Amino acid sequence: MRFSLHYFDSLDSTNTKALEMARAGSDEGTCVIARQQTAGRGRLGRRWESPPDSGLYFSIILYPRLASAFMPLITLMTGIAVSDTVAEFGLKPDIKWVNDILVGEKKICGILAETTDTPRGPAVVVGIGINIDDTGFPPELAGSATSIEAETGSRPDRDALIEILFKSIADAYERLKGADGARLTIDNWQQRSSYSEGKEVSVINGNEIIEGTTDGLEKNGALRVLKANGEVAIIHAGDVGRLRALPK
Ligand code: BTN
Repeated sequence: MRFSLHYFDSLDSTNTKALEMARAGSDEGTCVIARQQTAGRGRLGRRWESPPDSGLYFSIILYPRLASAFMPLITLMTGIAVSDTVAEFGLKPDIKWVNDILVGEKKICGILAETTDTPRGPAVVVGIGINIDDTGFPPELAGSATSIEAETGSRPDRDALIEILFKSIADAYERLKGADGARLTIDNWQQRSSYSEGKEVSVINGNEIIEGTTDGLEKNGALRVLKANGEVAIIHAGDVGRLRALPK
């Protein structure tokens, strides 16, 4: 994949800009980076705090030729890529289904995939927010978020971070598009996530709260949760609210 980078000092949201660029015909691999976002967004309409230079605020345009049921694999593929990127800094990341990258059980990165129709077919814009330092965390996040600087004791070089991210995305995306790509992506994701199997969790799924033990992923990336009554609940990324590990 050819990456082309578009840098901005300030944007409302790199995802919004990349969605516009996709609709205007930009190529796969077009990336948008901003030093700050004034309306960065996360899943479920949450805000993503994005003060200047405190995080990598990055979005990439993809045109995956996947059946719509398999589109959630794009989020998993990105989770693999970001987990591998963070690991390059000597950290031991975990992936909390479906899109949170954690270090020491604190969130270091979030991923927001959004789709749009374009003249060349459906596009997915994958937004990645990696915490470089913790200056922007609102007090209520202080206990549950971390940053590369906080974990390693030094500030990563932004260009080096972007280079590693490109390579990791290219590798994970090629694997997903290749022979047996869905299965390989699920396997790779499961190898990097303690949430994949045997984790006691509580999940808000639509109007329901489900408690149980994780039991692997479905072929399309949905999470299987084995309930105490023996039923397996299948949780789809689009329906899930909060997912948390239950205290041991
Ligand atoms: C989440 O964990 O809820 C997802 C957070 C995604 C944040 C990134 S920062 C770059 C891109 N632009 C946005 O507005 N959001 C994503």
